[in-house]
Amino acid sequence: MPATRIEVNIPGEQRYDVRVGAAVLDDLGPRCKQVPALAGCPQMLVITDSNVAPLYLARAKASLADAGYRVADIVVGAGEASKDIEVLAEIWEAMAALGLARDCAVVALGGGVVGDLAGFAASTFMRGIAVAQVPTTLLAMVDSSVGGKTGINLAAGKNLVGTFCQPSYVCASTEVLSTLPEREWRCGCAEVAKSAVICSDDFFFWLLENASALAMRSEEVAAEAVARSVVFKADVVAQDKTESCGVRECLNYGHTLAHAIEKMAGYGTYSHGAAVAEGMRFAAQMARALLGTSSELVSAQAELLDELGLPRLGWTADAQEVLAVMKRDKKARRGQVRFVLPRDVGAWELVDVPDADILSCLRSWMAQGDS
Ligand code: NAD
Ligand code: GLY
Repeated sequence: MPATRIEVNIPGEQRYDVRVGAAVLDDLGPRCKQVPALAGCPQMLVITDSNVAPLYLARAKASLADAGYRVADIVVGAGEASKDIEVLAEIWEAMAALGLARDCAVVALGGGVVGDLAGFAASTFMRGIAVAQVPTTLLAMVDSSVGGKTGINLAAGKNLVGTFCQPSYVCASTEVLSTLPEREWRCGCAEVAKSAVICSDDFFFWLLENASALAMRSEEVAAEAVARSVVFKADVVAQDKTESCGVRECLNYGHTLAHAIEKMAGYGTYSHGAAVAEGMRFAAQMARALLGTSSELVSAQAELLDELGLPRLGWTADAQEVLAVMKRDKKARRGQVRFVLPRDVGAWELVDVPDADILSCLRSWMAQGDS
């Protein structure tokens, strides 16, 4: 299967390519040589994590070195805890100790954690050096490696400090997904489903038809799902690079309830993807109640999520408490909770939902989850 090239063209930014395909990792060095911001780098710094390093670091470094780059690496601990100011400070110090200059670049080899952390380090070191994203999770391929959000967490909340900094190149080498744990696979599937519902009939019905193959980890279907998701995300980001005109927020479909579930159940109790799937089901039901969205959409989406191995969680909580947590979320505006609600497949609205409606939808949702 040949690799797919998707051009990301965001107003005011350098264009960049996302390459999706099996073994494009082995082509990383030569491809970087074709990117103006990376071609002349005297030194590349690969940042990865402790799970990915033994699997793919040597391949990435070999490809870069064979293309003529001097290459160094930093390995951080795997997991969300590395999106942290102390880890970031260690990276900055290591970058300085290596003598990285403005014309050097970072290669972020890993999942969304490495992508966000390394992207943030690159965007702030010497006021910004170039970064290439080499996503190794399905979630990172379909979402976090494209669009330029970077960041770290604070004790006060996730992703509270960050930048918008577009990568110069994205290399999505789908064969690396073969080593991904099942839980992480399903997290990526949830983000693909999110994009499909929000994007179009074409994406949604293609995914519905191919959902069981994606759940079974067909490489061909995964590559197509990544490519379709990237095309969709690139289009959204091109319209609203900094999430300031109400378009990019569509990528938060399902995330309003998901963030509350993750916080209330304790981070890690449910995977992010499982919580997003629950949030999508809830939002679709809320859309049915408030916008008259068809029951066909609600049930087709439920079928899709079931096929992808993302069943209902059976999670329940006090509706008033859930509402209070939602109001403290960083996405809430002046205490008003915002939902992305599907009017139809490919047609969504950003709605400030009144508290009374949220409570009534939550109560009916919890009652169904209990049964
Ligand atoms: P992750 O980076 O923690 O990766 C999940 C796990 O899989 C880790 O243990 C990792 O070591 C391991 N792993 C990665 N690739 C592997 C491979 N090929 N084989 C075996 N193991 C592998 O998690 P994630 O789900 O990729 O990303 C979540 C992060 O992404 C969160 O911090 C979230 O805030 C962020 N995010 C950012 C954006 C954005 O636009 N910047 C969008 C969505 C999510
Ligand atoms: N993952 C949401 C965004 O990139 O805006």
